Amino acid sequence: MFAGRIQWFSELQSTNDVVATLAEAGAAEGIIVSADAQNAGRGRFGRSWASPHGAGIYASTLFRPDAAVFRLVTLAAGVALVDGIHAATGLRLHLKWPNDIVTDGTAASRKVGGILAEGGAESDGRPWVVLGFGINVLSASLPRDLTTRATSLEHELGRAVDRGLVLAECLAALSQRYAQLQSGDRQAVIADWRDRAASTLGRQVEWNDGAIRRGIARDVDEHGALLIQTDTGIVTIISGELQWL
Ligand code: BTN
Repeated sequence: MFAGRIQWFSELQSTNDVVATLAEAGAAEGIIVSADAQNAGRGRFGRSWASPHGAGIYASTLFRPDAAVFRLVTLAAGVALVDGIHAATGLRLHLKWPNDIVTDGTAASRKVGGILAEGGAESDGRPWVVLGFGINVLSASLPRDLTTRATSLEHELGRAVDRGLVLAECLAALSQRYAQLQSGDRQAVIADWRDRAASTLGRQVEWNDGAIRRGIARDVDEHGALLIQTDTGIVTIISGELQWL
């Protein structure tokens, strides 16, 4: 769905902003905006996303999913990115809910990439989603203060990585996973997400819903919400900030 629809920039503020502007102007789904550098790259919760020149993949695409699968687009994208990275490099990474791409499920796990999904709706209620993703490719993509919590493909592999190939494989996987979701096969997407998140499920998590709460991350439901086992029963988290202990 993406073929021939990539717009490449040397530098811009945020690829998500460019795609959101195109979405509001009525662009068709499947456009891709990618940049060599972002000067205002953002992560979840308004955090900045370091995006130095040529050091990572900074890309966003537009989806106009059926309302029934809207909330699963970001899980499908996580599966696609893990698979795309594996196809391009041989490196098998893992997912941490909702969509961090991490080295494994241990306490020493480091983050390699992340997804920022931002959305809106047309006047007829049909949703659109700007799906932005950042992947650290060179170690230079990491701010110095993050080097204990983040890592890069080249650092993990100990060799040079072809950024263009990683992007191409990720886009191919993204296109295929989105088609799978839209065709109604959401169970396969969720099963593959579980498989790639298995090393992080079973971990203790902490969150704040007015008071600090703790539990064990057990599973995701059919909408992609996280199910946490607590002393008082299963709690369902749709979004929010979790600390993985
Ligand atoms: C996160 O883990 O917090 C999500 C990070 C998402 C970063 C990407 S880079 C391309 C796109 N443009 C942005 O400004 N952010 C996303």
